[in-house]
Amino acid sequence: MLRTILLGPPGAGKGTQAVKIVEKYGIPHISTGDIFRENIKNGTELGKKAQEYMNRGELVPDELVVEIATDRLLKDDCKEGFLLDGFPRTVFQAEKLDEFLQAHGQKLDVVIDIEVEKQELLTRLTGRRVCRKCGASYHIVNIPPKKEGICDICGGELFQRDDDTVETVENRIEVYKAQTMPLVDYYKKAGNLAEIDGSGDLDRVFADIVKALGE
Ligand code: AP5
Ligand code: MG
Ligand code: ZN
Repeated sequence: MLRTILLGPPGAGKGTQAVKIVEKYGIPHISTGDIFRENIKNGTELGKKAQEYMNRGELVPDELVVEIATDRLLKDDCKEGFLLDGFPRTVFQAEKLDEFLQAHGQKLDVVIDIEVEKQELLTRLTGRRVCRKCGASYHIVNIPPKKEGICDICGGELFQRDDDTVETVENRIEVYKAQTMPLVDYYKKAGNLAEIDGSGDLDRVFADIVKALGE
């Protein structure tokens, strides 16, 4: 049983670490960004609404996000815990999540905050490639696939996210500072924040996360 959140700026490695965490702890990976991208791909109403915000690097309005996140948390597979990646992202969302958990007699175990400096975030995001089929993340220099443009895991095609341009990344980092950074204090006050240095080798980062979560 583990209920946890991954906090951290765009490019900190939330998605990369999430894959390893859910494998080790056997909990579902819930990424609001992935849910929106899936909806965009399928051309749903939600996807159409979310897309304009995402392409500008802005946050999707709280009321849309809270609903999809809490709907997801009601699914059976979340009874034994979950890993939230990219939610909550505003104090309002965090308060709504607290209300939801309280109403269901649940509590967060740990909130993991992965921090990486800005120049490194820019390098990571502008060089990122994502698998169209399974969602795995690569980096053209740091974590290249064995065969260019092809996913090591599933053989799917790698693509560049629409919001990974220099301009949009700059804006996403600013939006993070203004709207999401306050959550670091929010969870520090709640007493369950673990701060992780996200720079350097991804296995070292993972080891630090496991230390914070407990074996
Ligand atoms: P979302 O999809 O959540 O994007 P994000 O928060 O901007 O974060 P990223 O996915 O870009 O980065 P990551 O930390 O997962 O990094 P990754 O592991 O891929 O959200 C997208 C948009 O959706 C938002 O802008 C917003 O519009 C909307 N949205 C989503 N949730 C919302 C919410 N709750 N409220 C409102 N709006 C919401 O790694 C990045 C790169 O670095 C990769 O290339 C990777 O290979 C590489 N890398 C990873 N680790 C390392 C390492 N240790 N060393 C070297 N390279 C590494
Ligand atoms: Mg991600
Ligand atoms: Zn793949």
